[in-house]
Amino acid sequence: MNKAPWWKEATIYQIYPRSFFDSNGDGEGDLPGITSHLDYVKQLGVDAIWLSPFYTSPNKDGGYDVADPRDVDPRFGNLDDAKQLISVAHSLGLRVIADIVPNHFSDQHHWFQEALKAEKGSPERARFHFYDANPDGTPPNNWISLFGGPSWTQVEDGQFYLHLFDSSQPDLNWENPEVNDDFEKTLRFWIDLGVDGFRIDVAHGLVKEDVLKNHPDPQGLSNALRLDVDMEPEIRNALLQTVPYFDRQGVHEIYRKWRKLFDSYGDREIMAVAEAWVHPPVNATRYVRADELHQVFNFDLLTAEFQSDVLFDVIDRSIKLNETVNALPTWALSNHDSPRVASRIGAEEARALALFVFGLPGSAYIFAGQELGLPDGVLADSDRQDPSFFRTKGEIKGRDGARVPLPWNGDTAPFGFTTGKPWLPIAQSWKEFSVENEKLDPKSSLHLYRTALVLRKQHMQGAGNIQWLESPMHGVQSKSLLAYRRGSVTVVMNLSVEPQACEVEGKLLVASSGVVDAHNGKKVIPARSCTWFLA
Ligand code: NOJ
Repeated sequence: MNKAPWWKEATIYQIYPRSFFDSNGDGEGDLPGITSHLDYVKQLGVDAIWLSPFYTSPNKDGGYDVADPRDVDPRFGNLDDAKQLISVAHSLGLRVIADIVPNHFSDQHHWFQEALKAEKGSPERARFHFYDANPDGTPPNNWISLFGGPSWTQVEDGQFYLHLFDSSQPDLNWENPEVNDDFEKTLRFWIDLGVDGFRIDVAHGLVKEDVLKNHPDPQGLSNALRLDVDMEPEIRNALLQTVPYFDRQGVHEIYRKWRKLFDSYGDREIMAVAEAWVHPPVNATRYVRADELHQVFNFDLLTAEFQSDVLFDVIDRSIKLNETVNALPTWALSNHDSPRVASRIGAEEARALALFVFGLPGSAYIFAGQELGLPDGVLADSDRQDPSFFRTKGEIKGRDGARVPLPWNGDTAPFGFTTGKPWLPIAQSWKEFSVENEKLDPKSSLHLYRTALVLRKQHMQGAGNIQWLESPMHGVQSKSLLAYRRGSVTVVMNLSVEPQACEVEGKLLVASSGVVDAHNGKKVIPARSCTWFLA
């Protein structure tokens, strides 16, 4: 029997290198800091790490502004440190996923510097999207940046260049074969260095159409501050469907080529996961057709309310849509771009939901610190670094709250993260969330994650699809309870603020909070909690 590829139902731990562990006291996390804490990651019970970018970068957008995609930024170390990290991870049985950023470069990349010096219409400019101004001097079209403001910036000779993100992140022109050649070189570079897969940043954005036309503005592109997760979902979805710079058919040609490249490494089983914000949800499945990428992020749980009907719809839809292309879904409750789940839906709720999704088929992604139950950091405006804060003149606070460094040990902030001044302040109240503290507390979030991930491996990975269960007390998927069976495990989540009794057989495996009492043969599931039972 063929063994399933390693990524099929992996649990993947996302590390934001700047915020994980600082080994040299400069206040920012780095690669040796990660390497020295991989034993912690291993003990958590995950299968792989995904490293957010650590490449040479002026760091205007947390490293997603890459000036050299084939080198390490000195703030994070050097290439030898990257090799060492990969080798220690592999020796612990952890795979490594690198984050690749093909939609744009930093304006400090030598290609863009050359383009600035070159003439209109030159091969140097043809690597990006340079266009003349309109006759009235305005930018070529009305597209807005995802970070706020116009997506065009003018250069000295009057031409404009396109940047869907910050003005320091010029978009690459994927119609130019040089661009694909360079990225294939980058993919091979990291595979040859030992990485096992890639997270593809803005995977839906590489191909642009109708660059010289205004967007028809279905629901107010011109009035929107920016196009991003925080927008009203209806407006965002309307825009995602109509903007001619996302989810174009041409992107799939690129991934078909890349898939051949990945497959050429045979039993290395190189995988790729797409960051693709698309609408309607069925479009996401196109990225994981058999000859394209291996996984696509499902972002619905990053915004879903803690309500049974909402969660049922999101989860059921994702499983069913992925089935149509013979793929498995992905689950993420937090990442470096969104509010942390504990802040968004509540601490108990975050534990319950994590346990609920760890039982589901597919890959589970955990954002470092989520296992500790970390909330968002509370920051003063003077601490903020996210370009969306500056581009919206402070109207949008940005994503720094989710990026505050991890508390490790000790009694005073910054709790062992650094011997210097952390790049974002860590609150003294985070002592309760420190790794050291949580290791000692059997009721901690860290203990719950560790227990759950062991059980996930034992009972769930590879156990096939789920079967939704009727809730005996309240009918199918009641407002209070959401339940499914997978293999011999029954997973029940109580979403109400009251304990709920239900008839469920089997022995308790793990519970996200409280004790589950038995009364008259029934199990009592505490308010806002999730429990696994083994038949
Ligand atoms: C998505 C990344 O996750 C985000 O952090 C970044 O700002 C944008 N892409 C632009 O690269």
